[in-house]
Amino acid sequence: MILLAIETSCDETAAAVVQAGRVLSNVVSSQIQLHAEYGGVVPELATREHLRNLAPVTQTALRQANVTAAQLGGVAATRGPGLPSALMVGLKSAEAMAFALRKPFLGIHHHEAHLYSPWIGGSPPAADFSSFQPNVSLVVSGGHTMLVHVEAELKHRLLGSTVDDAAGECFDKVGKLIGLPYPGGPALEKLAEEANSQAFVFPRPLLHDANDDFSFSGLKTSVRYCLRDHPEILGDGKRVRELCASVQAAIVEVLVTKTVRAARRLNVGCVTASGGVTCNLALRKELAAACQKAGLLLRLAEKSLCTDNAAMIGILAERKLLCGQSSSPLDTEIAASWALA
Ligand code: KG4
Ligand code: ZN
Repeated sequence: MILLAIETSCDETAAAVVQAGRVLSNVVSSQIQLHAEYGGVVPELATREHLRNLAPVTQTALRQANVTAAQLGGVAATRGPGLPSALMVGLKSAEAMAFALRKPFLGIHHHEAHLYSPWIGGSPPAADFSSFQPNVSLVVSGGHTMLVHVEAELKHRLLGSTVDDAAGECFDKVGKLIGLPYPGGPALEKLAEEANSQAFVFPRPLLHDANDDFSFSGLKTSVRYCLRDHPEILGDGKRVRELCASVQAAIVEVLVTKTVRAARRLNVGCVTASGGVTCNLALRKELAAACQKAGLLLRLAEKSLCTDNAAMIGILAERKLLCGQSSSPLDTEIAASWALA
């Protein structure tokens, strides 16, 4: 079956075509430039951009896959969680397409899709479910930070999540404090390169707590106090780089330690990671080192699949349909606060 997938949960308008686990096309139109001016995602603007871009992005995905709408065997879209009006654009368009084509429609949980993106790889990309292993999955982006026990294919249990800011949000807010453009994560990583990550000592929130939850707002606040008490740091390039490296080290240490600890406790042999923050090289390196030390297999989502995309939505939707899950009704509503079970 050839399946079209659409993702519009936040600030990426994305469409992909998948077939038999293969990603035939994966088109993403990012709105980062637009929102940068406002220092964060403006939901109303995001929605207008989705409305403007969804049709051309979808047409491009079909063209790149060399597929016509008539050849589609189904349509999937992100149902939630995300920005309500943004979700509505993608979900309702997908339902309308499925109605017009008289094909099944599937509403997909955005975070559940992230869980399987580390299993997509290669060129051209394809999902490798034959090597699937039960794992602990770290989903870490601007909107979410969570640990999930993926016990089997399509079977998972949420272990913990952030009680306040997401890790990416912390990168972005610290970036803002030091005057970096939105989103701060990638820019902060650049500044942190090769700087002393022990120059500043920032808190590692919940590092030693026995749960699998995260908290990053206290870390951001301690950076704010540090800069309030030592405003001269901002005028000193070396100190700014050291500050960036120290913040990054704190975030990475918490993410890596808690992920590996959960994997050992649950006795799984594999760790996976996805979400925008997984683009961070320090996180990738530290996770690799910690997993190697603990004898755990590590599967990191490829960088192009770390950030939001429709390929992961399509791959999961196809898997669900192949495993016998029934399609969603054509009047399915968005679920903006849909919690991962
Ligand atoms: O998954 P994503 O594109 O969107 C959602 O939030 O769902 O993730 C974006 C987040 C932003 O907070 C951004 O700063 C962060 O991922 N990010 C990074 C890096 N690349 C993206 N954070 C740290 N280092 C990076 N290299
Ligand atoms: Zn995401």
